[in-house]
Amino acid sequence: MKVLFVGSEVTPYIKSGGLADVLGSLPKALVEQGVECSVVLPKYRDMKLAETLEYVTSYYIWVSWRREYCGIFKTELDGVTFYFIDNEQYFGRPGLYSYDDDYERFAFFDFAVLEMLSHLNIKPDILSLHDWQAAMIAPLYKERYGYYEFYHDIKITFTIHNIAYQGKADPRLINDLFGLGDHLYYNGNLRHDNCFNMMKAAILYSDLVTTVSPTYAKEILTDEYGEGLQSILNMKKDRLVGILNGIDYDTNNPETDPNILYHFNKDNWKEEKVKNKIALQRELGLPENEEVPLIGIVTRLTWQKGLDLILSKMDEMMHRDVQVVVLGAGDRKYEDGLRYWAGQYPEKFSLNLKYDFALSCRIYASCDMFLMPSLFEPCGLSQMMSLRYGTIPIVRETGGLKDSVIPYNEYEMTGNGFSFAHYSGDEMMSVINYAQTMYANKKHWNHLVDAAMNSKLDWENSAKQYIDVFKKLVDE
Ligand code: GLC
Repeated sequence: MKVLFVGSEVTPYIKSGGLADVLGSLPKALVEQGVECSVVLPKYRDMKLAETLEYVTSYYIWVSWRREYCGIFKTELDGVTFYFIDNEQYFGRPGLYSYDDDYERFAFFDFAVLEMLSHLNIKPDILSLHDWQAAMIAPLYKERYGYYEFYHDIKITFTIHNIAYQGKADPRLINDLFGLGDHLYYNGNLRHDNCFNMMKAAILYSDLVTTVSPTYAKEILTDEYGEGLQSILNMKKDRLVGILNGIDYDTNNPETDPNILYHFNKDNWKEEKVKNKIALQRELGLPENEEVPLIGIVTRLTWQKGLDLILSKMDEMMHRDVQVVVLGAGDRKYEDGLRYWAGQYPEKFSLNLKYDFALSCRIYASCDMFLMPSLFEPCGLSQMMSLRYGTIPIVRETGGLKDSVIPYNEYEMTGNGFSFAHYSGDEMMSVINYAQTMYANKKHWNHLVDAAMNSKLDWENSAKQYIDVFKKLVDE
């Protein structure tokens, strides 16, 4: 079986969020189980490892009425082939997104991917599309490319990493960028709420819709989480599956991680992990203290991640015997709010308004607890990272957080973290208080850290589930 993954960011080449981690590690896990995998993404100016790419070919393609240069580069890593779509005008700029012409840039990308198949004579069994940037490949395939003999018999899957970002655009772009007829707007295929909606289109046109956790797959069928697409998803309910993401246990490993000072594993964490804690306190200018619980937060600073809860309870939290470290960047209002509290409590709160992968590894490795009170969370990878590094997650029971963090039961001594159900600051605080009580009791805490480090959240199991659903599709 051959699978081609299509998405806008992939580690280790370029990353802004969890999508990149998934596209960087799922194909590798599938290759280990005998699937032939390749991945295609844009060749951004800021990408890493650019020196490892080799030029393959170039040609001109039509993007609706535009004639555009399209170069193809390629490389191989861990048995996976990576293709890069080159066009200076569209991708030779800083960063990844947030340009006025993003829809045009990714329309170009979508056409370039479809054209690449015939130019390089690549014929996958499954074309696995991820998020809105790749979404329009589904209707382009079904309305156009699929009619050409070369393109027959390719199955299309679409994976929703976050239904909050749908690619909602001016209906005129349907023709202007994608060269598709207006009738597809008027018959509702590409229309939602009087807008052109790329994610809706992909949901309708793909053979299977997947999302990144079983709980999120159920949540997006509801008014609360569906972001307006719940009715269309309910229509395709029997073609929707949730498969929990994993994390790469080779690259995310406290025994070998080059970003942390003291390596540790399931057997020696009691002696070694705390050394990282002291080192991190020193690095961040917090008082060095083994006993005080150190709570980590690594996140994009957006409403999704529960920043409103955190800010509303910051004062209360700072009155407790804890230290807090935040790493991340994002919305101005959250950055400003956090800055205020960091100014009020410099002895207890270390604020780091940036993305810094190496520091994030040290936070996962050094903290006692990891706070992630998301409003919604399709999967969430940070809680898995913290479990892997023996740091106990405190999460809200939503999406993948619910599927990966099992609340601790002190009587049966089961579970690997703490969780609360409602999006309420008071509930969050009472769970933090409970976690602190457990932290003070070494018997419980040691048990919890052991359970966390024994959680199996690598890709093996999830890759098997992907193979199952892909196989079923191919055999249809
Ligand atoms: C998005 C989601 C996050 C998920 C990631 C990878 O970033 O917000 O929950 O873990 O995609 O699927």
